[in-house]
Amino acid sequence: FSIPRHVLSLKDLEAHCLASMDVMVRDYLYDGAEEGRTIRENLEVWDRWLVVPRMMRDTSNVDLTPVVPPLNHPWRLPFGIGPSAMQGLAHPAGEAATAAAAKACGVPFALSTFSNSSMEEVKAVGGESAAFLQMYLVSGGRELNIELLRRAEAAGYKAVVLTVDSPIPGNRPGLIKSNFVMPKNLRLGNFSQDFRGPLDQSASNANPDASTSADTARNGTDSESTNANTNSTSSSNKQILVDPSVNWERDMPWLQEHTTLEVWVKGVLHPLDAEAAIVHGARGIIVSNHGGRQLDGCISALDALPGIVRAVRGRVPVHVDGGVRRGADVFTALALGADFVWIGRPVWWGLWVGGEEGVRWVLETLEKEFRTIDALTRRDSG
Ligand code: FNR
Repeated sequence: FSIPRHVLSLKDLEAHCLASMDVMVRDYLYDGAEEGRTIRENLEVWDRWLVVPRMMRDTSNVDLTPVVPPLNHPWRLPFGIGPSAMQGLAHPAGEAATAAAAKACGVPFALSTFSNSSMEEVKAVGGESAAFLQMYLVSGGRELNIELLRRAEAAGYKAVVLTVDSPIPGNRPGLIKSNFVMPKNLRLGNFSQDFRGPLDQSASNANPDASTSADTARNGTDSESTNANTNSTSSSNKQILVDPSVNWERDMPWLQEHTTLEVWVKGVLHPLDAEAAIVHGARGIIVSNHGGRQLDGCISALDALPGIVRAVRGRVPVHVDGGVRRGADVFTALALGADFVWIGRPVWWGLWVGGEEGVRWVLETLEKEFRTIDALTRRDSG
């Protein structure tokens, strides 16, 4: 693993990756809703904020630890790695590599339910960093959710992050055009083999983060799939469907009754939804537009943040994600009232170039940039 000399920032790493990344992986990673307006907004919104530096403030020791550490754990930095599905696309070690990097850097990792590494595997390498498990509530009986919660509790996760922005999938033409297929060598690590099966892109409510295609199974070349599911055809594989009827009143109490984990909510953009989340027991809120993958034209998380911080009034921690690419972005989010910041796509660039080490490079680069801006703007001496 080596990073070329001209790669100095996350955006440099991105450009370096794009030259070599598989088209399919790239399409999945960059996919956004409809025209990509929100994806562009997520990246541009940070440029509208500039800082006023301070002078003569003794920068010899700068404390970068979060003021309100998530789950009361002494994390080294005020940012962590948010959930993104199927990281096995970017590196064979998948989420296990990401978790190892998070651990090495002393930051939390939120694991997507639709990971390629299993939650137990991720816990084993990630230790305390493997603290959050992201999930959706599925249609039908909730046995699948209950089983995942039991496993997360047994493995030692501390919180479940309910993603609330995807009761129905966003319109993502990119995936349909590129006919995205989860490669045959990958499976969803938290589900039995039969859940790996085809989820038709056009199915009305297939999980938007873990869509796989039936093509290879249909034309009979998917030997692994046909062997593993001897009598399975594309229609008999179990399709994971997000429940489109999810709502605060019924489902937040349900979730809290069925787990001892803290329940956090991800994907809030309106102050009244932040209020609803708190009223219904959320222990933390992640302001997010799902990396621009759900509703095109929707507000950036950064612009939504101040109103939500005002509405929350310190009752629970407020976190933010979307388009964070610089230490300065982390700083801006904190300055506008976030307690903590999560990154999504940059982790994939790290995975692609160097697995665990690549992700460490991403985290360390952000840390270095954040340290600089924190030192040069500090209000107090010492
Ligand atoms: C995601 N995101 C996501 N969110 C979630 O709650 N569950 C998931 O499984 C996924 N999967 C996923 C896959 C990929 C490839 C991406 C890019 C994103 C959304 C993610 O948690 C986060 O909100 C955004 O990625 C943050 O924006 P940036 O940092 O990617 O710009």
